[in-house]
Amino acid sequence: MAEYLSLETGYGPCSMQVLTHMPMPDIKPDHYLPFVSDESLTVHAGEKQNWIPKCSIGTPIIKSTTRWFENSEELIAFREGRQTSFEYARYGNPTTKVLEEKISALERAESTLFVSSGMGAIVSVLLSLVTPGGHVVATKDSYWEARMFIQNKLSLMGVSTTFVDMNDMDSLKEVLQNNKVSLFYADSPSNPLLNCLDIKQVSELCHSHGALVCIDSSLASPINQKPLTLGADLVLHSATKYISGHHDVVGGCVSGSENLISKIRSCHYDLGSTLVPDAAYMIIRGMKTLHLRVETQNNTALKMAQLLEKHPRVNHVYYPGLPSHPEHDIASHMSGYGGVVSFEVAGDLQATMKFVDSLKLPHIATSFGGCESLVQQPAIMSFWDYSAAERAKIGIKDNLIRFSFGIEKFEDLAADILQALQKM
Ligand SMILES: Cc1ncc(COP(=O)(O)O)c(C=O)c1O
Repeated sequence: MAEYLSLETGYGPCSMQVLTHMPMPDIKPDHYLPFVSDESLTVHAGEKQNWIPKCSIGTPIIKSTTRWFENSEELIAFREGRQTSFEYARYGNPTTKVLEEKISALERAESTLFVSSGMGAIVSVLLSLVTPGGHVVATKDSYWEARMFIQNKLSLMGVSTTFVDMNDMDSLKEVLQNNKVSLFYADSPSNPLLNCLDIKQVSELCHSHGALVCIDSSLASPINQKPLTLGADLVLHSATKYISGHHDVVGGCVSGSENLISKIRSCHYDLGSTLVPDAAYMIIRGMKTLHLRVETQNNTALKMAQLLEKHPRVNHVYYPGLPSHPEHDIASHMSGYGGVVSFEVAGDLQATMKFVDSLKLPHIATSFGGCESLVQQPAIMSFWDYSAAERAKIGIKDNLIRFSFGIEKFEDLAADILQALQKM
């Protein structure tokens, strides 16, 4: 068994520094050649580690919180970097490492940190890369909890912030010129109105002023969009969504250069938002079908957006795959537009509730990206705490619906939506 736990997979020297800087494998973007397609990477990348016994195709769950040493000589070999391994579970775990390598391969990243939630990844990024006295620019429609953390918690550390509209290059330029900006932070696509960022243009602009760019790509998934290839420095995901894909596990990850991820990892050691190995196993298992699920969700959502756009009881559809979407051209870097479609029905708050309550297939629930379709009326779910005026300011109308399409048959979902619109 000790043999299985001794990793020989290219991990750097493990020394006393392990407490602040766990050595990571040296993964280059072409590490997984000849498996270059996402379809093969979701299935194979990161697996076939030599600690995995050949009697197992699936990655085993290594639950141990610590490794053990045969004798003091082996311990000294470990300390001197002659033998590589994980030491303690908060600094890394073999099962989780497989998952991190899989994400790195899909995002074309040198390194990935996987933690216990999307918020865990977001906070680790912000606390490790933004120093007191620094400035953060974020988009106005980034994930509300991230925005609240930036606005209310980072300010306690002497960090100033500006929120800009997506793709408002003039305002962004002005902020970059007048402040020492450490980080630009945006969700693309955003939630729930699916605005899309020109990641390439924003990255070039931010880099020319020495600012890093971090993209929350949760609504795209690593299949539809790879922000690092467009110039972003970091891409993060709420893996609770498409990556795990079954509405049954919470997780988060951030990918980028080895240099940046090791800084974030070191901060995460203090925060302690460690992913449990059982969750890592479930996410690896879920990811085997990531490309199949996302492809189905992309197709269903696009067809449904087209159908809804023509329906007399629908006022407006928000979906970047539609030519009518203001950022349709900007989103042309995406290979698919995801499974979330938002739309405004022709009715008031009550009529919209009637539409939702008439649906038979989807669950009324928050979140997105799983096999089961979910539906919500943001005015009475995600934005319940906002006043009507606050909601109006950010474009959340009483008649807005956010539909997260799962992998059910398109015809069944379409029939269900059409009958519910009829009942409004
Ligand atoms: C776009 C986006 N980013 C981040 C998060 C936070 O992720 P988690 O719930 O996994 O902490 C969410 C959660 O809904 C989200 O929608």
